[in-house]
Amino acid sequence: MRGVRLIGSGSSVPDKVMTNDDLAELVDTSDEWITTRTGIKQRRIVDAPDVGVATLAADAGRKAIAAAGITAQDLDLIVLATSTPDDLFGTAAKVQELLGAERAVAFDISAACSGFVFGLVTAAQFLRAGTYQNILLIGADVLSRWVNWSDRGTCILFGDGAGAVVMQDSEQDRLLGFELRSDGRGNGLLNLSYDRDLQTYAPITMNGKEVYKFAVTAVPEVLEKALHRANLQVAEIDWLILHQANQRILDAVQARMGIEPTKVVSNLANYGNTSAASIPLALDEWVRAGKIKPGDAIATSGFGAGLSWGAAIFRWH
Ligand code: UT7
Repeated sequence: MRGVRLIGSGSSVPDKVMTNDDLAELVDTSDEWITTRTGIKQRRIVDAPDVGVATLAADAGRKAIAAAGITAQDLDLIVLATSTPDDLFGTAAKVQELLGAERAVAFDISAACSGFVFGLVTAAQFLRAGTYQNILLIGADVLSRWVNWSDRGTCILFGDGAGAVVMQDSEQDRLLGFELRSDGRGNGLLNLSYDRDLQTYAPITMNGKEVYKFAVTAVPEVLEKALHRANLQVAEIDWLILHQANQRILDAVQARMGIEPTKVVSNLANYGNTSAASIPLALDEWVRAGKIKPGDAIATSGFGAGLSWGAAIFRWH
């Protein structure tokens, strides 16, 4: 069996910044409430007509390809994790066109905020099987299109963005362990579902408290399982990159796992919850800052609607 390496990252966010104070003009909230309950200070929002999931994803992808030292022509597969595609029929092929990745087949996968981790494991199977050599995995979401801007319980959380990694086949397998889970019994806790009366998709609804409780128990469980499969102790992890949903969730998981706080990657203050984009967006920031180094052991976990959740342990490069 062949192995998997992650050899380059990239990210992209829209230009427009929306601060907590900007939100306080739309709904009854405050910078103080949002900061203490979530850790979020600002988020990026798409407001230009020519910017969307495809353009953000392509921009992040282009940077990841450059960082990996390959070209778009080298790509065999593009996996776009998104639950807010520009087109419900799929947006990955548009990304393929924008990148000029003529040889690559491209498809979307939808697993909400778990999309990046589900995509990572999906892509890894093609590499391990020897089917493909170079894969671009992108997480991209534009949740601002689907947020109810009069619901203060949800609109304060989300932001738009994209992050990408290039995965390559290798003799050595750097994906050390993973665990993926779903539980449809919690399907009603977080939705962006079709509404027969509206004849379109209704804005996001969420039971925040229940999603919070689910996250702080389910995430440590899958991380433990993935670490066990990776044959690694918690202390051997260099970085914990969780889906950037809420600083309190990051802190609770860190405390429960007994991971040193300095190993927890967090950039949600600047971007909010960018769904499938949040993990690669944070990864790319830490890689470009020189904090994450080749060989570092990274534990990552995505969680959210479905319910869906998962963890993966990998070494960078
Ligand atoms: O990718 C996964 C996506 N989802 C999540 O990660 C969500 C997980 N959940 C959370 O992050 C938190 O539950 C929230 C940040 C959404 C809410 O925090 P909370 O501590 O669970 O607050 P709460 O919903 O219990 O609300 C507490 C109070 C309520 O007022 P009362 O009933 O105590 O009078 C809310 O009406 O805060 C009120 N409230 C707000 N106040 C000011 C709710 N949203 C706001 C707001 N500004 N934006």
